[in-house]
Amino acid sequence: MLTPTRLRPGLSRLFPVLLFLIGLLGLPACEAPQGSASGVPDALVEGPGPQRAANGMVASVNAIASRVGAEVLRGGGNAVDAAIATGFALAVVHPSAGNIGGGGFMVIRFPDGTSTAWDFREKAPLAAHPEMFLDENGEYSREVHHNSHVAVGVPGTVAGFAMAHEKYGSFDWTGLVDPAIGLAGDGFELSEALAGSIGRSLRSMERYPASVAKFSKDGEAYEQGEVWKQPDLARSLERIRDQGRDGFYLGETARLIVEEMERGGGLITEEDLARYQPQERTPIRGAFKGYEVISMPPPSSGGTALVQMLNVLEGFDLAAMGHNSTAYVHHLTEAMRRAFRDRALHLADADFSDPPLERLTSKAYAEALRAEIQPEKASVSSPTDITLPVESLETTHYSVVDSQGMAVSVTYTLEAGYGSKIVVPGGGFLLNNEMGDFNAGPGLTNARGLIGTEPNLARPEQRMLSSMTPTILAKDGKLVAVVGSPGGRTIINSVLQVVLNLTVFDMEIHEAVAAKRFHHQWLPDALRIEEDGMTPEALSALEAMGHTARMAGSQGSTPSVFLDPETGELIGAPDPRDRDGGAAGY
Ligand code: DON
Repeated sequence: MLTPTRLRPGLSRLFPVLLFLIGLLGLPACEAPQGSASGVPDALVEGPGPQRAANGMVASVNAIASRVGAEVLRGGGNAVDAAIATGFALAVVHPSAGNIGGGGFMVIRFPDGTSTAWDFREKAPLAAHPEMFLDENGEYSREVHHNSHVAVGVPGTVAGFAMAHEKYGSFDWTGLVDPAIGLAGDGFELSEALAGSIGRSLRSMERYPASVAKFSKDGEAYEQGEVWKQPDLARSLERIRDQGRDGFYLGETARLIVEEMERGGGLITEEDLARYQPQERTPIRGAFKGYEVISMPPPSSGGTALVQMLNVLEGFDLAAMGHNSTAYVHHLTEAMRRAFRDRALHLADADFSDPPLERLTSKAYAEALRAEIQPEKASVSSPTDITLPVESLETTHYSVVDSQGMAVSVTYTLEAGYGSKIVVPGGGFLLNNEMGDFNAGPGLTNARGLIGTEPNLARPEQRMLSSMTPTILAKDGKLVAVVGSPGGRTIINSVLQVVLNLTVFDMEIHEAVAAKRFHHQWLPDALRIEEDGMTPEALSALEAMGHTARMAGSQGSTPSVFLDPETGELIGAPDPRDRDGGAAGY
């Protein structure tokens, strides 16, 4: 097991901050050559494209956040420490999904090959009940479900980070939060992509004065190149730095959250916040062509569906079909269709139901599913009486590996882009709208897209079903790669395709990340392929097989880290789909 060096608190607290500030000034962070044996850490390597480094690597949707994590690694922190620091930094520099007011999952693989998973998914408040998304007339209200104070789940991120740090971190806590405090308090320059994203979100925030105040200059959009400061967020982060989880779940921040809940008719109380506990869980594990797949169990559906699909696909000669060929897309689509049907029918928070995980991830079940698949004919998704709700596309994933080979895969979210759009007045952070991941209400399943099956109905303290799929691949006892993605339900299929690109097609990690992806989720019975993902002839061939297929848009973001088995170097691969993405290592 790891025996990381715990730096002296004073030094450990200052070191990453100093390195980070030096980096912000654009100065060489360190003059020591690569591979220095002098005790001085190697220089940082970083950039928007793939990066190689000997000792540690972070890849995320935002280059500034990746640098924060890499500096923690370089200062002696382990991968859990770096993941926490990256997560806090993303809450500042990637506000659409980075968060302290949301929740997520962290999968960890230790250097000895053992693994664990942290579940810091939001919970339903104690006052939740299955009919809570009905309006005063007893009608289902999409607005209440997805776009209201009632849609806010009890946040999990801060408690999850604090507990992961307590159990597996090696670095002084303050050194993990300070870089984010600096970014929030001193501000940072807005990129074109971020200024644009914030500007576009302003309309959806009009109802919430604290949100407009945080994300604009008195209602006027920020522009690229302006320095954006978030003083209230800096103070909330300071309370987290100084008091750990209590700095969020008790005292001032808790009071501010509850006041906002009372103002807007939300359900979260001080008791809900005080009671929130993250859970350590046993990862879902699968075996695919000699690779070990380690991923997230319920309350995510991600790991289960991923392993189920890999098991089905293991029986086909995908390499012979060719990457993204008509036959390949057809066979994957058929595997996706079946895994998403099982997801809808069976998966939910396992603390409240008993999803048949063993069966769903067994080779025998996969064989039965495989036997149903016809090589040249699409099956038809049969809704019986079930269709699926639309899910938003904002979340973020990042990947970290340290010098000991400890690997951390984190996906966390506010659910929709900018979550509920509600900034806590005085707190400076956004609240999630994760309650929208619960089913609409009992018996509400209908052909228009509502789902009301039992296991994933809202109940006090239940966690809503997720698709987030933070995943780690290993082979012969050695780490291979750390992957994951945002994208609602497309997450599971994006991760599946990166895994196949690596394991079946032997792609370089940056190719595996960049390759075009596609998605099918059982219902609606539609196959969506990324823009320019295949030739028009191949698309027509899929339609001739019975698929309803179209090419549009972009799917997911899979910043990954790969361990090169030949050189032992780590390769960080940001996703070229992310305009501000970056990898940083040393
Ligand atoms: O937990 C889930 O699966 C969703 N709330 C995630 C939302 C999401 O990925 C949006 N992402 N880009």
